Amino acid sequence: MRRTTHRLRTLGTLLLLLAFAASLVPNSLNSTVQTTSAASREPVRARHGVVASINEVASKVGVDIMKRGGNAVDAAIAVAVALAVTHPAAGNLGGGGFMMIRLKDGRTTAIDYREMAPAAAHRNVYLDKDGNVIKGEGGSIEGYRAAGVPGTVRGMELALKKYGSHKLTWAQLVEPARVLAANGIKVTYNLARGLRGNNDYLSKYAETKRIYLNNGNFYNEGDLFRQPDLAATFARLQRGGPNEFYEGQTARMIVDDLKAHNGLITMEDMRGYVAKEREPVRGTYRGYEIVSMPPPSSGGAVLIEMLNILEGYDFKKMDWASSDRYHLMTEAMRRAFADRAEYMGDTDFVKVPIAGLIDKNYAAQLRKSIDPNRASTSEQVKAGKPTGYESDETTHFTVVDAEGNAVANTYTLNNSFGSAAVAKGTGIIMNDEMDDFAAKPGTPNMFGLIQGERNAVAPRKRPLSAMTPTFVLRKNGSLWFTVGSPGGPTIINTVLDVITNVIDYNMNIQQAIDAPRIHHQWLTDELVYEPYGLSGDTQKSLTARGHKLNDKQRYLGDCEGIMIEEKTGFRLGAVDPRRSDGPAGGY
Ligand code: GLY
Repeated sequence: MRRTTHRLRTLGTLLLLLAFAASLVPNSLNSTVQTTSAASREPVRARHGVVASINEVASKVGVDIMKRGGNAVDAAIAVAVALAVTHPAAGNLGGGGFMMIRLKDGRTTAIDYREMAPAAAHRNVYLDKDGNVIKGEGGSIEGYRAAGVPGTVRGMELALKKYGSHKLTWAQLVEPARVLAANGIKVTYNLARGLRGNNDYLSKYAETKRIYLNNGNFYNEGDLFRQPDLAATFARLQRGGPNEFYEGQTARMIVDDLKAHNGLITMEDMRGYVAKEREPVRGTYRGYEIVSMPPPSSGGAVLIEMLNILEGYDFKKMDWASSDRYHLMTEAMRRAFADRAEYMGDTDFVKVPIAGLIDKNYAAQLRKSIDPNRASTSEQVKAGKPTGYESDETTHFTVVDAEGNAVANTYTLNNSFGSAAVAKGTGIIMNDEMDDFAAKPGTPNMFGLIQGERNAVAPRKRPLSAMTPTFVLRKNGSLWFTVGSPGGPTIINTVLDVITNVIDYNMNIQQAIDAPRIHHQWLTDELVYEPYGLSGDTQKSLTARGHKLNDKQRYLGDCEGIMIEEKTGFRLGAVDPRRSDGPAGGY
């Protein structure tokens, strides 16, 4: 498994997290904790609209669109295409994702623009003649054969048609990205670090190397990075509209180059791509409504299953940093991820018992299997019986406009820089989303995730995702906050952490995002935690209960969120100190 190489951060950020951990005075199980104070920046406060993304330039593009009369959906579309320029590891035209939209009148919808398997893909397409999973070139991770049919452009088209303000055209929304690609962007510290860290990967294919290396050398922080091929692609998309990507010259360029490299995607696949509107999955946590992404994402259902389990415990009586809380969080994660492996897949192809998985009675049954003093082993915890991975470089951004429309969008190339294959002449890096299928059900993918038969490869099917763009509503039904993250399977647990931090520990959106996180995904049976995230005493206590701690600490996710301040209506934008290269944008 290739990992994003760098999780180093500025000393300042480390100190912030240390200060945060230190400020949480451990309490016994029975003492009451009302609030948690943390050393954390204030979120960006905006009276009208706010955009929180990993990249400051892209966030400003979204703010500018809102200032020109666009709504949150218009802004999100402009941010999505801008991130394809400024954050090429995950921002994309060659990938796919999910956009959750909540309109000012309270209607909520989910746009599914996940990649689709090409027609030539079949159950064993990534197995060799001996039935083993193909590693490297020709497999589901690396190179031209790993790409599913990209959905981003169709997804943006659908969102714009149905939910845009119609004050700005498609061409106007694409224009800022075209200008950034044509004129070049200043390489940020994060971009330089990402390009260097992925140097071997980006050097595998001549076209990719030509674009992402500076005449064979590294781009350094502060250098100008121009992407003229990508700018020309944007110009074609402006002239021809989204159809150009699927039926025009861009489609032909993608298909011809993939064909030359043993890829699977044909013109028919491109023409046949459809973005779909889906009904969000809904649950409650302590009376607050949770609205999240349904299949083909596992994110919403697994999140709600975990929240339902945790609702049975009184976190207000447990210190935030206590091993009691970590123990229960881990046990909830273990059980919901076991169900994910067994039950989840594309509901256009397989039956998934969503209603059963998010049922409160089912959670109560699962809770009975949790010993408050002892870790289960993942061997014991098989999937229950409900009725009825980023390197994990995905990226999340969120927008709230002046009228109260909101977008939570997570999209991805899967791996950092996707398959590392750029379609010649287009500047478009292709996804390796086919690895989110179970290449061989029962064997782990690049995130170590075990996946079942329901997620086997099939023509035109969508691979299972963990992306979890989510809205949390106040008890009066108004929007409280939006949240989401990259991180492969860690995404769902990052969103869980942030939601419980806010609801159970009264953190504001920035504190909730900054706070250290944990991750458990059933198999591998290990508890992952962040540098400085667990005190030595807590580690000892968790180990004594039987938890297996992964000692290779790493930062988890890159969560962006927006909270609406109840008294003032101000929009509070928060970006994650783990990876973002600038503050949220607002006005
Ligand atoms: N490729 C990461 C996800 O969809 O969950």
